[in-house]
Amino acid sequence: MKLWQGMLSGELNQKAEEFNASFAIDQRMICQDIDGSIAHATMLGKTGILLQNDVEQIITGLQEIKGDLKNNLLKLDPQAEDVHTFIENELTKRIGEAGKKLHTARSRNDQVATDLRLNLRSEIAQITELLQDYIMAMCSLAEQNLTTIMPGYTHLQAAQPITLAHHLSAYCMMALRDLERLADCRKRLNQSPLGACALAGTSYPIDRQLTAELLNFESVMQNSMDAVSDRDFILELNGVLAIIAIHLSRQAEELIIWSSQPYSFIRIADEFSTGSSIMPQKKNPDMAELIRGKSGRVLGNLIQSLTMIKGLPLAYAKDMQEDKESIFDSVDTVKICLEIMANILLSLTINQDQMLHATELGYLAATDLADYLVKKGIPFRDAHHMIAQLVGIADKEGKTLAELPLEVYREISRSFEEDIFEVIDMKNIVNAKNSFGGPAPAEVERQIAWIKQKLQAFSI
Ligand code: ARG
Repeated sequence: MKLWQGMLSGELNQKAEEFNASFAIDQRMICQDIDGSIAHATMLGKTGILLQNDVEQIITGLQEIKGDLKNNLLKLDPQAEDVHTFIENELTKRIGEAGKKLHTARSRNDQVATDLRLNLRSEIAQITELLQDYIMAMCSLAEQNLTTIMPGYTHLQAAQPITLAHHLSAYCMMALRDLERLADCRKRLNQSPLGACALAGTSYPIDRQLTAELLNFESVMQNSMDAVSDRDFILELNGVLAIIAIHLSRQAEELIIWSSQPYSFIRIADEFSTGSSIMPQKKNPDMAELIRGKSGRVLGNLIQSLTMIKGLPLAYAKDMQEDKESIFDSVDTVKICLEIMANILLSLTINQDQMLHATELGYLAATDLADYLVKKGIPFRDAHHMIAQLVGIADKEGKTLAELPLEVYREISRSFEEDIFEVIDMKNIVNAKNSFGGPAPAEVERQIAWIKQKLQAFSI
């Protein structure tokens, strides 16, 4: 039965009926819909709005439905308009008259807002855990690679030597901020709209504080119009998820580049790679590519939800039914991407020799050579020019800086001495970069300890 049949006569057009229905999508909130109804019914009993006998029947009926759901015995009605309609009809089917009283002092408008907040609150808890696992995976890989030297890039041009641990620590910092963003978003989401009714509250003596407490909301939303119209929490969560997806996409892109033949810095495990149906030699980083590719849909979902809400006058409008598919899709997408990325990282093979070799081929000691001359009293600008000349010579001869004899150095500047070969040693360069936040192994060890401590102290 339609909950809204009331004054409308005649049947809804068949296509319109399908168009209007949202059960296929909002059945995902079935547990939260039942929990919200149990809290609402409890409150109706406590305030004397409903008789205790009715309330008991309602709650028992709802608990039975929940039990059947858990045991896979609940038969879903594909014709149901939405999850709220389905549960109310199912309840009335089971307990009769009392079921029809559940919707006293409530509207689907505050109901749907409540369900969504409860549902997304539990998703945030799961995403938080996945983010924590992902950060721990990066920490453990970083700890094994504190001294794994590799080129750091700017403009994707080899710039200065860093370590793989330093690189991973950077992604940990982003993911830590993502964790905080999630927790922050949760604060505003964790407020109860229940009792706002359609938009204008109610003249029944309801107790909004009680339902909020029963549902573990932190507070009651102050304004009933806002409570049913607000979808900020969806926009915000979509935004946070888009940032996470974009961070993952950047990292996926690097894994793809690093695993390509010219780089060969890493090998992605076979269990996260595919072959080609035509080229037998191929090993493709499909999972990393999918993580990169799926960031597009998460970004699209953010734009969808912003656009959906942008012209809506207060309070509820049916446009808002369109808020669910995209946020659920983003939630699912980010969850699987986080899990896959953590596992790709944990099963990576690191080609340390190749990484080190790339620093030498890329003349990554050039800046340190210039600094060497500066320490001998040569102005930086001149030193920069001299080292550019030196790199030019090495490049022409197809040699690394370490392979050039001291004479060549001294032709450029008499200030170069035997110790120059110590200076251009990548390990020495990295060890010397011990400024706060830099790549020196001891400093990155500090960063990782800091990340782990942050993780441990983190709670939502
Ligand atoms: N299925 C609807 C939604 O998701 C529930 C709220 C319906 N409210 C209404 N006034 N028609 O938005």
